[in-house]
Amino acid sequence: MLVALAAGAAFAVSTAVAGADVYAAQCAVCHQAEGAGLGPFPALVDNAFVEGAEGALVSLVLRGRDGMPPFANLLDDAAIAAVLTHVRSAWGNDAAPIDEQTVAEVRADAEPAVEIAVDLPDDWRERGEVAYLETCAACHGAGGLGIPGAFPALAENAFVQGSAEALLRVLLNGRAGMPAFAGSVDNERLALISSYVRSAWGNEAHPVDAEMVSVVRGGGDLDLAPSTPTTRPGAAD
Ligand code: HEC
Ligand code: HEC
Repeated sequence: MLVALAAGAAFAVSTAVAGADVYAAQCAVCHQAEGAGLGPFPALVDNAFVEGAEGALVSLVLRGRDGMPPFANLLDDAAIAAVLTHVRSAWGNDAAPIDEQTVAEVRADAEPAVEIAVDLPDDWRERGEVAYLETCAACHGAGGLGIPGAFPALAENAFVQGSAEALLRVLLNGRAGMPAFAGSVDNERLALISSYVRSAWGNEAHPVDAEMVSVVRGGGDLDLAPSTPTTRPGAAD
């Protein structure tokens, strides 16, 4: 009798997920063993986002962002809760643990509520359309349908509706046959155009303002969650 109970208890303990082990297996390759980060991989130590709001942090790990891969299909709720609890309490970080229930709730929220303040004139849609027609329509078409095989459609395009930062980088720097607009179009006009293409022809993503363009132009990061996937199968990069 006593032997059987002891064996049961030992078995129960072995099912606990160790956050440090998940971190070592899944995160350390980029963020480094001690969370110090390296090159494009941000430090997770002394990081206000890591120690901040639980929902945004869980959502980032589930859904990814630019170079940060999504873990929704790789890690279950218990493993994500464990690894984030570890990251929030290791290396001098000091934030509350995250439980499995919180991860389950964020996972169930298909569209996490993201509040983004933008500073745009009231007639941004009209002005954005005019600027789009003048600057972009020659290639992508007045209706955003592009020309198959030459110029991609911007209508119902996941990349256009994804990370505002990734979109602005393509507009500022160009890509393959797409010219760079950093030298010829100012921040306000790029903001109007980006906001327009993200809301026209069935697209639905939050608008972009001149300050955001200025940050990306300066090489900075926009700390915004993507509204839809940021990569498009078959995209050139
Ligand atoms: C393949 C490399 C890679 C792996 C693996 C990876 N990350 Fe990331 N992570 C990144 C990159 C790149 C960014 C910056 C993304 C951006 O610029 O928006 C990032 C950003 C983050 C951020 C946001 C930091 C901030 O200041 O905004 C957190 C938190 C984070 N990762 C946690 C994790 C955790 C936890 C794991 C393991 C479950 C993990 N990452 C695995 C590459 C990675
Ligand atoms: C001279 C023709 C031309 C003009 C003008 C032009 N583009 Fe493009 N654009 C292209 C080409 C070609 C590509 C495909 C690049 C590639 O294959 O990576 C492209 C790609 C894009 C993409 C990426 C689409 C995707 O699915 O990956 C976006 C977004 C975009 N253009 C928006 C714009 C906007 C907004 C303007 C106006 C500011 C504009 N383009 C002006 C030719 C043009």
